[in-house]
Formats: sequence, structure tokens, C-alpha cells
Amino acid sequence: MSSSPELNDSEKQMALVRDRFTRTAQVFADYVLHERVFEAERVLRLVAPVGSERALDVACGPATLARIFAPHVRWIGGLDLTPAMLERACKETVGLHNFCAIRGNVLRMPFGGETFDIVVTSYSIHHLPDAAAALGEIARILKRGGRFGMLDMIVSEDAPAAKMCNDIEIARDASHTRALPASEFERLLAAVGLRVVRREIIDHPRTFDQWMRTAGWKRGDAAYEATRRLLEASIPHDRAALRPKFLEPPEQGGANAFPDARPDIALVHTALYLSAEKQ
Ligand SMILES: C[S@@+](CC[C@H](N)C(=O)[O-])C[C@H]1O[C@@H](n2cnc3c(N)ncnc32)[C@H](O)[C@@H]1O
Repeated sequence: MSSSPELNDSEKQMALVRDRFTRTAQVFADYVLHERVFEAERVLRLVAPVGSERALDVACGPATLARIFAPHVRWIGGLDLTPAMLERACKETVGLHNFCAIRGNVLRMPFGGETFDIVVTSYSIHHLPDAAAALGEIARILKRGGRFGMLDMIVSEDAPAAKMCNDIEIARDASHTRALPASEFERLLAAVGLRVVRREIIDHPRTFDQWMRTAGWKRGDAAYEATRRLLEASIPHDRAALRPKFLEPPEQGGANAFPDARPDIALVHTALYLSAEKQ
């Protein structure tokens, strides 16, 4: 057993991740495989593979990016910590003979330096205990001149709003560590020798109840209620910069009726897409 508190924290974080993405494997994978096709195609356009590349999808989940990249590269690995995610990734890539699922930790990837022409990752950095270390590890395994494609949620540049947003995210999902503002991503990338080539910021509107469902929670669950309380508290002055707005109250007795009369809430996440080149 290690006596390093840092390692213990990291192991605790990995256990939270495995628990969350095993518990919600089906609902999460069904959602992202349907809803993130457009987002994966946007990352594909930003990275623009030519077909001869050896690529890696880091924290691949159910192969959200890898299955879209596979027809456009020579080979693509999908690395993830959670076996349930890798099982689904394998199911989703049947017939794609250039995909390989790899169990591993982003912070200590089982590859030598300068192995890949392309590394991509989506919605992963905000689940990691150390974003700088993860980006450093990605830079290490990329060849010089290789490309990094990234998509992640970002928070406001205003520190109190960023904190409130992260508090809401953690109430919903204990495996969320910290979403970063765009400027911090750019600073961390520059520090590990990844030069941003293209960058896009896109709004991602969603509804609260559906967002909670993909984390495994429904009305009445403690995590649902705690997250909703925080989101509602952020409404005056939009304190978490999530632009929340109450929707029309649900029709009672309708097919999609909620178990209580509270209206759903619309909110808007902000996503950062970028491609960067290793110097
Ligand atoms: C929000 S999901 C994103 C999955 C996929 N990239 C997508 O966009 O749909 C986060 C993924 O990161 C994985 N993950 C979290 N921490 C990890 C780590 N330290 N090493 C490897 N995978 C990790 C989880 O198992 C999960 O599949």
C-alpha cells in the first residue's frame, strides 16, 4: 500500500470515476452515442486526419470520438479507466477492424514517448485530478508535429461564477473534479508545448431533468434535489453563468409527466473545441 497522500487522492478519484461510469453505463452511453455525433464530427473537422495516422482517443467512454475517427485514420486506440465503458466501446465498433480498446489511466498511459500522430479527448479533463499532468502526458505520447483534438465543457472566466458552476457539477456527479475556463486550457496547453491552431466555443443548451438522467438521477433522489437547489439558487444574477430559465410547468397526467408539478429548467453549457500541434 502506498503512503503517498497524492496517490491516495488519485486512487479515490479513480474509484469515483469507475463507480459513476459503471452505474450509469447504459444511460450515459445511449445518450452520448446519439447526441455527440455532431460534436465528434466537429472535432474530426478540426483535426483533419489524412488517413495514415496512428491515433488515440483518451478517456474514450463508449468510443464517442474513436468510432467517428476510425474510418479516417490507419489505427485508433480507445483508452479508458472504466471496464463498462470499454465493453460498450467494443460493441459500438464491431466491424471497425482498426479500433482497439485499452484499459488505462490518462495520468500514466502505457505508451512510449512520441507514439501517436493524433490524440483526441472529449469531456474528460473535468474528471481528472490534475489537468496539467493529463495534458503533459498527452503531449508526451504525441509525435512532434502531431495533432491534439479536444472538446470539453468550460466555465466562466469570473472565478466566483466558475466555482458556483463547478459546485453544481459536483453535486450532480461526485466524479467531476473541476471544469476550467478557456484561458486556463490555453495556458496549460502552451506550457506542455501544444500550440493551439484552431479554437471554437459553442453553446450547448440542455434541460435539467434530462441532464440529471444521464448522471443516473431522477426527481426525489438526494443528488437530484441537492443539484436543483444549487442551480435554482444561481438564477438571480446568473451566478454560475449557466443561463438557467424555468420552462413551462409540466402537463399533469401527460405521457411525459414528471412525478411532481415543478417545471423543468433550461440551462446552457459552453463547450470549447480546439486543435493544437505539438511543437
Ligand atoms: C464524461 S465521460 C466522456 C466519455 C467520452 N469521451 C465522451 O465524450 O462521450 C468521461 C470518461 O473519462 C473516463 N475517465 C475518467 N478519468 C479517467 C482516467 N484517469 N483515466 C482514463 N479514463 C478516465 C471515464 O471512465 C469516462 O468514460
